Amino acid sequence: MQIPPKLLEILRNAKRVAVLTGAGISADSGIPTFRDAQHGLWSRFRPEDLANAAAFERDPKLVWGWYEWRRRAIAGAAPNPAHAALVTMEHRFPSFMLITQNVDGLHAAAGSRSMVELHGNIMRNKCFAENIVVENGIADSHDPEAPPTCPHCGAFLRPDVVWFGESLPEAAMLAADKAARECEVFFAIGTSAAVMPAAHFPRIALESGAVLIEINRDTTPLSGAAHAVLRGPAALVLPHLLKSTWPGH
Ligand code: OAD
Repeated sequence: MQIPPKLLEILRNAKRVAVLTGAGISADSGIPTFRDAQHGLWSRFRPEDLANAAAFERDPKLVWGWYEWRRRAIAGAAPNPAHAALVTMEHRFPSFMLITQNVDGLHAAAGSRSMVELHGNIMRNKCFAENIVVENGIADSHDPEAPPTCPHCGAFLRPDVVWFGESLPEAAMLAADKAARECEVFFAIGTSAAVMPAAHFPRIALESGAVLIEINRDTTPLSGAAHAVLRGPAALVLPHLLKSTWPGH
């Protein structure tokens, strides 16, 4: 893939960079995305119909089962070269912020530190009633498919992720908003840019004068607005972009 020389120059001179990632960056680690065709057992459900409080109240076993399936996929996954490239970028640019919609923890596992998890983390649980993080729930000895319960109040535990209809963590939102407004270059990587408010950050960056670069296997609603679109799997495109920008490093 030929990277436009102008883009390489912009990157070499950039001081403030922000990145929004979505499920596509973890696809090369073997974790299914949300909007690509779903496989097997879960193919007949839409994520929107599972990732919400009403669905959990209606059928806690179904929703818990879906998250257990995703957790198993994540537990067996390792960060890929795209995650690693973002760690390199964090060290290369004087100011860098990674905004992720992913709940899989792979950015942290790769070594990213300047980062906000907008949608929480799937490996944590919280009490459905009290909304506090709970390390160890009580398993139902009669029904292994039921969610564990809270040791304080007996309510079901749920994953500590943001569901449709819920607000995002405020500190993460503020940090993401600041980074989008102040950056010179904004990357949107492996996201369908379909879910608000996260999908708003690339637009904020654009309106604030940043150069918008999209890295995605497919076309998204952002593609037309981006200054550069690098098509392909993030695990190939990002390392290639870094090598082209800083040859010999
Ligand atoms: P999506 O599943 O909506 O989109 C994944 C994007 O990654 C699509 O545009 C794919 O074309 C692209 N893609 C797939 N494989 C890729 C690869 N190897 N390299 C580069 N791009 C690739 O995932 P998100 O945009 O993250 O929210 O979805 C946003 C939110 O919707 C999620 O955080 C989740 C979901 O419902 C909640 O759970 C609240």
